[in-house]
Amino acid sequence: MLDLLVRRATLPDGRREIDIACLDGRIVEVAPGIEAEAREVIEAGGDLVSPPFVDAHFHMDATLSLGRPRMNVSGTLLEGIALWGELKPLQTADEIRTRALAYCDLAVSQGIGAIRSHVDVCDDTLKGVEALLAVRAEVADYLDLQLVAFPQDGVLRAPGAMDNLIRALDMGVDVVGGIPHFERSMEEGHESVRLLCRIAAERGLMVDMHCDESDDPMSRHVEVLARETLRHGLQGRVTGSHLTSMHSMDNYYVSKLIPLMAEAGLHALPNPLINIMLQGRHDTYPKRRGQTRVPELKAAGITVGFGQDCVMDPWYSLGRACMLDVAHMGLHVGQLSARADMAWCFEAVTANPARIMGLEGYGLERGCRADFVHLQARDPIEAIRLRARRLHVVREGKVIARAGRDVATLCLPGRPERLDPADYAPRAEPESSEGGSA
Ligand code: FE2
Repeated sequence: MLDLLVRRATLPDGRREIDIACLDGRIVEVAPGIEAEAREVIEAGGDLVSPPFVDAHFHMDATLSLGRPRMNVSGTLLEGIALWGELKPLQTADEIRTRALAYCDLAVSQGIGAIRSHVDVCDDTLKGVEALLAVRAEVADYLDLQLVAFPQDGVLRAPGAMDNLIRALDMGVDVVGGIPHFERSMEEGHESVRLLCRIAAERGLMVDMHCDESDDPMSRHVEVLARETLRHGLQGRVTGSHLTSMHSMDNYYVSKLIPLMAEAGLHALPNPLINIMLQGRHDTYPKRRGQTRVPELKAAGITVGFGQDCVMDPWYSLGRACMLDVAHMGLHVGQLSARADMAWCFEAVTANPARIMGLEGYGLERGCRADFVHLQARDPIEAIRLRARRLHVVREGKVIARAGRDVATLCLPGRPERLDPADYAPRAEPESSEGGSA
């Protein structure tokens, strides 16, 4: 007797009419027409079933704090950092924990199965660390939460930040963070990267730095991050988050930089919603887009994930834990309009960030953890186009969230009464072997 059987799913790789059998928290079979009894059956009926969404860049200590103690008037990254500095002494560990748990509820309802959250260590009380370590344990049964020790005000610039970062790692924070472009000078930024990579190497930890989140084309800390990754043998374990200065860099310099990043096995994590909102604020017109060079990084074989970064906090007033919103924005800003590129944008919020976080047992293969999302869409591109409803969210073979289909009733004489947005798409695929046309 299976715990759960999903019938007639479409998988992100395009396989159709596939059943997924789950037992004891694992996927035990993925094949058409599985004949078995199950305690629970999900009739996918051709809908997309995907591994969970993964958000590899978030700030859970700040989320849902919008308006406290005031709004960000200029809309810039720097006012956001100043505003966060005003909020930090006001909030308690209990408030942070309560907001974080509420956000985790929202995330689960939207099919997110894992989040990498930065936690600010530039606060001698480390109340954010204390709160999020408690949350990590509380949500462990339904959400994988990975924490990054993040020196928001600069590990060299802020008094005590290095000691606090070490204490946070000793308390059990998973990943070493940094913010070299916010240090006092380029040289101190470089030095912070060297120190932090050494700490990660000594402790056997991953690194994820806010790196070059700037429109300054001379902000080149990512070069040092790649160099230090190679020096310490950290290939595949280091992530450059944001990397927005790459957008503004000279093409000749980038032609050297991207191969170096590939050689170092660096991962790239742009945050499309936040980057398009915060960057280019000093421009008149034309205004630069605030996104790193996603197509070029991708073409070089670098693992690129899209992160959400912020939801209703000092930097960003919007957001709803929807990784399809994130993919939708990343697709547009990166002009990733070819069908293969649009499908890749779905990977940028699922498989790629899972690889960046080093998640084990992730995927829809036999032996993987029975974690997945049933979406009201026929394929990944449609899921992004519709920001499709999450009909079932499954964790270790159990349904942990469900929602009704997104269906409207039309009250127009002579027109269909029931409107399911997934029904309103041409079904012929232009690239298919059947030679259909759009
Ligand atoms: Fe961030």
